[in-house]
Amino acid sequence: MELPRSRRSAHSPLGRKSESAHTHTTVVDEKGSRLPVLLGSVFLLALGGSLLYSSTFSLNCRDQLEQSLSPSFESYSSAPTIRKVLDGRISPTSHYLDGLNLSEVDYTVGGLLADLSEFEPSSCASRAHHRHRKTKFKPSQELVQRLRRYEAQHRECAGRAKEFGQPKSGSRVHGSEAHGEDCRYVVWIAYSGLGNRLMTLVSAFLYALLTNRILLVDRSSDMSKLFCEPIPRTSWLVPSEITVEFVQSLNESSPQRFRHGSSSAGNNSSTAEFSYIHLTHTSDDDDQVFFCDSGQEQLDTKPWVFIKSNSYIVPGLFFLSKFRVDLSVLFPDKEEIFHLLGRYLFHPSDAVWGWITRFHKAYLADHDQQVGIQIRTFNDSPLPYFLEQIQECVAQQELLPKVVKNVDLVRRSQELQLQNLRASEKGISVLVTSLHPYYYENLRDLYLSGPTEGAESVSVHQPSHEGWQQTNTFGHDLKAWADIYLLSLSDVLLTSGWSTFGYSAQALAGVSPWILPRSVDGQVPNPPCVKARSIEPCFHTPPLLKCHLPEGANPATILPYVQPCEDVTWGVKLITAPPTQVRDHL
Ligand SMILES: *[C@@H]1O[C@H](CO)[C@@H](O)[C@H](O)[C@H]1NC(C)=O
Ligand SMILES: *[C@@H]1O[C@H](CO)[C@@H](O)[C@H](O)[C@H]1NC(C)=O
Ligand SMILES: *[C@@H]1O[C@H](CO)[C@@H](O)[C@H](O)[C@H]1NC(C)=O
Ligand SMILES: *[C@@H]1O[C@H](CO)[C@@H](O)[C@H](O)[C@H]1NC(C)=O
Repeated sequence: MELPRSRRSAHSPLGRKSESAHTHTTVVDEKGSRLPVLLGSVFLLALGGSLLYSSTFSLNCRDQLEQSLSPSFESYSSAPTIRKVLDGRISPTSHYLDGLNLSEVDYTVGGLLADLSEFEPSSCASRAHHRHRKTKFKPSQELVQRLRRYEAQHRECAGRAKEFGQPKSGSRVHGSEAHGEDCRYVVWIAYSGLGNRLMTLVSAFLYALLTNRILLVDRSSDMSKLFCEPIPRTSWLVPSEITVEFVQSLNESSPQRFRHGSSSAGNNSSTAEFSYIHLTHTSDDDDQVFFCDSGQEQLDTKPWVFIKSNSYIVPGLFFLSKFRVDLSVLFPDKEEIFHLLGRYLFHPSDAVWGWITRFHKAYLADHDQQVGIQIRTFNDSPLPYFLEQIQECVAQQELLPKVVKNVDLVRRSQELQLQNLRASEKGISVLVTSLHPYYYENLRDLYLSGPTEGAESVSVHQPSHEGWQQTNTFGHDLKAWADIYLLSLSDVLLTSGWSTFGYSAQALAGVSPWILPRSVDGQVPNPPCVKARSIEPCFHTPPLLKCHLPEGANPATILPYVQPCEDVTWGVKLITAPPTQVRDHL
């Protein structure tokens, strides 16, 4: 049971070594925040940053907090806000359509997505709606062309994938196929929680685009029940001839492990046909040669590459000089990679879409602004200071209106009436996602305890709070994916540092979040939140880079768009433009 199974699982967001028994929090990471980013020590630090925590929790401290915060509103239920008359076909993203002429909507997002007519009608309810979402990011023409070429290549090669492992003579590819194009594959191995899986799917897909391979997706972990097929007229799933057991059995002991074991001698064609890339918390220096040009040259000879990872390795692909030019052409703005590829790949399945649309229609559709608060404390019980931290962040940055305090009851009720009358003027929906109901209940009660200064109506909602870890179960992943999608509809986002769940939401939204840093000492950190420099996820375990840079060198000096993360100091992330001046501590 490794963490990464899901956001609700009880381990580190990185899916770091955590197969062992549950242990209470051992926070080592915050110390790292004062260390300079020295790549020579990056990996060790990252390992030291391993977090373990328990999967059980209690709500012991809840009562005292509720008392301190607000009067009790036991009878309140999170009833839907007044609904406009909506016909049944309104999409959960309808507010994105305001002011748009529907017949002018670009259903391909600037050519990013294949035309709807390419897909079977009614094969995926989210596919059409999903397209209504506006985005300020436009795919480059080069990316659009590459994707169309990829789709054709995928259709041609997916069918031939079942030949994997069959013994054949040297000219297997050129012999029978009319097109004669070499088919090469990246197999993505499902590993760790849903947030991590979104990170690694985007990474593997980009790697496939850069290496002229097609991406095949491990069937385990209910992937086919969570996502629609993204490529028209074909499947992205590993063909059933390659068993789930085989794919899942690959691990650091496999002889095919890249630069480990007998396969590196390349003396046997059946083992030489593929390489297993191991990029997890147990990766070593040899695995990290993946990020060196010499490593990529070796992998070039393999028709098949299987990748298991729990990190967003995309920033690391920029360390490879052979990819760098291509990357810059495909993505003139480095910040848009996850956003565009994520919108290309991730279409909620009908089951997930039903959940999303029902919740959205009931609670979120009727508002002027949606504020998403993604809470992941990596602790087994709710943390009172974290609630304070959220409130301080919201107040300092004026992300939500202030509640008027110290009004007498009569005045308050008058104000509330007034507020109700004027509610239609401005409505704010706050979407909270958390393991616990504690934060949601307290925020909700706060906004019921008095009118807001501007008489805005603030409604607080939480789709699910399963409370405990439900490792790798479909219902659980369904809700996790729905939570991420609903968060990604937000106009303003607050996210918890370290969380791949939050990274996914921010990148899909295209919204640079306010990150709530983790407390070192159980007090509210100062500042309570920091604005992320980009919407891109953080690569938690960047490679040592012995191949390119002097040991200890900072990659930001050669790649100004690769910068330290705000939350994980030894991590790196992509930003749009280099900062005007190099920061002191680098
Ligand atoms: C919407 O756009 C179409 C095509 O450009 C145009 O014919 C139509 O008049 C527009 N409708 C409105 C209400 O502007
Ligand atoms: C790797 O997988 C094999 C079986 O496929 C298993 O016996 C072995 O314990 C695994 N090794 C590790 C380190 O997980
Ligand atoms: C590959 O060759 C080496 C020696 O050249 C040998 O030790 C090893 O067992 C061989 N591996 C396989 C899988 O045959
Ligand atoms: C290559 O692998 C096959 C089966 O995997 C095995 O039978 C054969 O002995 C191997 N050849 C060498 C040279 O190791």
